[in-house]
Amino acid sequence: MSRIPVILDGDPGHDDAIAWMLAKASPMLDIRAVTSVCGNQTIEKTTYNALRICTLLGIDCPVAMGRPSPLLAEPMNAPSVHGQSGLDGPKLPEPAMELSRMRSVELMAKVLRESEAPVTIVSTGPQTNVAALLLAHPELKNKIGQISLMGGGIAHGNWTPAAEFNILVDPEAAKIVFESGVPVIMSGLDVTEKALIFPADFERIRAVGNQVAGVVADWLEFFYAFHRELGYPGAPLHDPVAVVSLVRPDLLISKELCVEVETKGEYCRGATIGHDRKPANARVNLGIDRDGFADFLVEAVSTYGEGKQ
Ligand code: BDR
Ligand code: CA
Repeated sequence: MSRIPVILDGDPGHDDAIAWMLAKASPMLDIRAVTSVCGNQTIEKTTYNALRICTLLGIDCPVAMGRPSPLLAEPMNAPSVHGQSGLDGPKLPEPAMELSRMRSVELMAKVLRESEAPVTIVSTGPQTNVAALLLAHPELKNKIGQISLMGGGIAHGNWTPAAEFNILVDPEAAKIVFESGVPVIMSGLDVTEKALIFPADFERIRAVGNQVAGVVADWLEFFYAFHRELGYPGAPLHDPVAVVSLVRPDLLISKELCVEVETKGEYCRGATIGHDRKPANARVNLGIDRDGFADFLVEAVSTYGEGKQ
């Protein structure tokens, strides 16, 4: 079986980190590059976190830093969810690798140029880098097989009543991505708020006993503390659904829709409107087998070794 070449683009972030853990664990995926984007924290912090996560997980590929701000909007961060570092909680190893001299867009372009097979972009932060890539290198668009992104919500938002965080941070970029013609898999709040991992699952993960399992369990506890205050019965693992879409689509229920991004509007900037009045531009995930997802997470951490390390 030939593996799918992927670029992991994100703003880690606890759920980004768990998404990358799933990606590294899957024999179906070949991680060719990791690129940081500003979102959950500043670009300096998300880049440092990306390097630390890659070191922890043994992801051995170039890591590049993205733009310091969205395409047009002012930067916006989420310390209330992810802490001042963008990845508060357990102590992580210091980076064992150098940051690439290329910036995110140039590294993405290089990976696309050098790959014979179409490359999938897994985007778990604002769409800034992906849109900048499409603008700077339109000639490489046909080298992108698909974009599996976490963002938006057809039914509602989380950062405003209408908008989800990743889309709200850079709506102009999201609009470029959805209108690009590249196949998009959208995992928005409609599905990701159902991807709940409960405290009992944290303990199943911790019981696996290896270093990655312990860190993932600690990340889940940190991430859940914020959501528990809001009344969630578990941690909604938004970003990992963008990886599940590629490696375990059988766990998901989806629908082909036309998704349009509101970039104006006093109340609705950043909203994702899903409808069937125009041809579909996205496969939109709407449901998930929660128990199957929890089992899959436990299986994935188990691939990082047995017992205490
Ligand atoms: C998204 O916002 C970020 O805080 C998470 O990492 C996720 O990508 C959920 O709205
Ligand atoms: Ca994210």
